[in-house]
Amino acid sequence: MASYKIAVIPGDGIGPEVIREGIKILDTISKKYSIKFDYEYFDWGGGRYVSIGEVMPENAIEVMKGYDAIFLGAVGRPDVKAGIIEQQLLLGLRFGLDQYINLRPVKLYPNVNSPLKDVTPADIDYIVVRENTEDLYVGTGGFTHKGQPNEVATQVAIYTRMGVERCIRYAYELARTRPRKKLTLVDKSNVMTYGHDLWQRVFKEVGKEYPDVQQDHAYVDACCMFMVKEPHRYDVIVTTNMFGDIITDLGAITQGGIGIAPSGNLNPEGVSMFEPVHGSAPQFTGQNTVSPLATILAAAMMLDSLGEKAAAKDVEDAVISALATGRIPSLDVGIIPTDECGDLVAGFLK
Ligand code: IPM
Ligand code: MN
Repeated sequence: MASYKIAVIPGDGIGPEVIREGIKILDTISKKYSIKFDYEYFDWGGGRYVSIGEVMPENAIEVMKGYDAIFLGAVGRPDVKAGIIEQQLLLGLRFGLDQYINLRPVKLYPNVNSPLKDVTPADIDYIVVRENTEDLYVGTGGFTHKGQPNEVATQVAIYTRMGVERCIRYAYELARTRPRKKLTLVDKSNVMTYGHDLWQRVFKEVGKEYPDVQQDHAYVDACCMFMVKEPHRYDVIVTTNMFGDIITDLGAITQGGIGIAPSGNLNPEGVSMFEPVHGSAPQFTGQNTVSPLATILAAAMMLDSLGEKAAAKDVEDAVISALATGRIPSLDVGIIPTDECGDLVAGFLK
C-alpha cells in the first residue's frame, strides 16, 4: 500500500476551513485507492507569530524535508504588518526548499461563470509556469538616506542562468506533454534589456532541444490583454516570478474567481507544496462561506505530483461533476457553505 507523509499547514483566516475540505477529499481518496496518508499538522503562520513571536521554528526547512509533500491553506493576518508572515512562511518555504516552479493552471471548468464574454471551457485551458525563487522576490536592495528628501530605494531583480534554465526546461517538458505543444515566453525584454535578454536567449537555446514544441512570445502587458481578449492563444506560459504572480491573479478571475484556482510550488527533485492561489481572506474567517474548490484542486495537484495520477484525475472529475449539479452556481462567497461543497465533491468520489 502506497503511503505518504503529508505536512499540513492550515495557516490563518480561512486557511483551516478550506484545508479541512481538502483533507476530507484526501481521506475519501485514501479509502477508494488504498493509499495511506500520514498527516502531521503544523501551527505555523500568523497565530504562532502573535503568540510566541515566530512564524515557524528555526529548523522549519529541515523538518519539512522529512515529508513527501506540504499542504498549505493560507497565511496572513490583518493585525500583523503586511509581508512579515507571507515572507517568512511562504517565501521561506519556497526558497528554503528550492521550490523553483510555481505551477498555476488556468482552466475554465464547465458550469463556471467567467466574467469574460462568450468564452467556453475550450477557450481557457492553459498553465502558467511561474519561476518561483528569483526575480524581485529575492529581497536584494535597500534604502539610503531613508526618510530624507533624497532617499533612494532599490529593489533588484535577480536572474541566474541556472534558475532561468531549469524553469524554462520544465516548461518545455510540460508543453511537450500537452496536445497543443505550444510554449509562450512572457517577459518585458523590450525594457528589461539585461535580465529578460537572458530569458530570451535561454528560451531559444533550450528550445532547440524541443523542436516539437511551438515557440511563442508575448510582452507581459500584451499578454494581459490577450488573456482577456483571446485566452485560447495560450497553452503553456513560462514567465518570471513577479509577472507570474500578477498574471495568475488575472488568470484566476477569468476562470471564475480565486475560489477555484489551485497552485503547486514544485521542487521536482525535492519536497513540493500545494496551496490555493487565494489568501487568508480574514474577513470571512469561520463563516463557512468560502469556496474550498481551489484547495481541493490543489490536493489533486498534490496527488498528481506524488505519482497518484488516477486519483488526481478522479478528484478533478469529481469537482467537474459537483459543478455540473448546478448546486454551485457561483464561486462567490456565501453561495454554498464550505463544508457542503466539500461533501458534494466527496460524494462523487465514493
Ligand atoms: C502568491 C502570493 C504571494 C506571492 C505573496 C503572499 C507573497 O501573492 O502566492 O501569489 O507574491 O507569491
Ligand atoms: Mn499572488
